[in-house]
Amino acid sequence: MEEKSRILIIGGTGYIGKLIVEASLRSGHPTFALIRTSTVSDPVKAKTVEGFKSSGVTILNVRGFLHDHKSLVSAIEQVDVVISTVGASQLGHQVKIIAAIKEAGNVKRFLPSEFGNDVDRARGVGPAKTLFKIKAQIRRATEAEGIPYTYVSPNCTFGYFLETLSQELYATAPPRDKVTIVGHGNTKAVFVDERDIGAYTIKAVDDPRTLNKILYIKPPKNIYSFNEMAALWEKKIGKSLEKEYVSDEQLLKQIEESSAPIDFYLDILHSVYVNGDQTYFEIEPSFGVEASELYPEIKYTTVDEHLDQFV
Ligand SMILES: NC(=O)c1ccc[n+]([C@@H]2O[C@H](COP(=O)([O-])OP(=O)(O)OC[C@H]3O[C@@H](n4cnc5c(N)ncnc54)[C@H](OP(=O)(O)O)[C@@H]3O)[C@@H](O)[C@H]2O)c1
Repeated sequence: MEEKSRILIIGGTGYIGKLIVEASLRSGHPTFALIRTSTVSDPVKAKTVEGFKSSGVTILNVRGFLHDHKSLVSAIEQVDVVISTVGASQLGHQVKIIAAIKEAGNVKRFLPSEFGNDVDRARGVGPAKTLFKIKAQIRRATEAEGIPYTYVSPNCTFGYFLETLSQELYATAPPRDKVTIVGHGNTKAVFVDERDIGAYTIKAVDDPRTLNKILYIKPPKNIYSFNEMAALWEKKIGKSLEKEYVSDEQLLKQIEESSAPIDFYLDILHSVYVNGDQTYFEIEPSFGVEASELYPEIKYTTVDEHLDQFV
């Protein structure tokens, strides 16, 4: 039997990272997590780390995290695949991972922290633009070093965009009275369950079809416009919502006048629902592949199914 590649996840206790660690374990890959020393002393995160350990994850503690080059190289030398899921503030520091991968010389695939829009095609106006730019710079640095890569682009996660009907950053359920729709509401966006992001990502790591490609996760049943998403929710709760439309100009003004992290979230909404950054281009075989086509055996969760739990 062919041996499964050994996978190291950097940022494994985070929102996306945790699900990738779990998917890696489920698929039987020897799974390693690089954990900051400070994470282990955080009571909430320590529990996650304990859970990892008891499920068979090899925990590698690095005191200086990405800044301890020697330890980083030693960690990377133990594995075949490196997946980074570091959060927004750490994206630029991934050049240190690239340098360590280069020195270690054994890595068959690197997946940098992406897990959103395709940053070579998305068009932000403010803070989202900065984030897209940093992620694109990490792409270019990876390519310049000749490191084999896959960039995972799952578009909108259910948690941030569907469960609240993209209303507010901190809401925990879809609205029951009023919905604010950005743009005209007819631009299509793509929504993906975080657990499916984990499953597709792990499928891709050993797949030659995803080598040096963007892996788009664009499940056909999960492509909705804002208006369609709101209509589906109205049907489920048997009630019409009051609708307020925010024009492109109004949204741009709100982005300018808001502070972090709201300005960032609004800028992403602008990219997704006004620019149509997730659906305005065709995926060409020269640069990308689509996950639900490559892996039809994964029964992904649909938008329709997911919203049921909030009714
Ligand atoms: N498409 C979407 O809707 C969507 C939504 C959210 C995020 N994303 C993307 O997914 C990727 C991961 O984001 P995330 O939200 O999962 O990240 P997160 O939970 O904020 O952080 C991920 C990990 O980064 C590590 N980290 C290292 N140094 C840190 C520091 N100084 N402060 C805080 N964390 C530090 C931590 O790892 P340890 O504690 O394990 O050391 C942390 O668990 C990003 O590229 C983000 O843009 C996409």
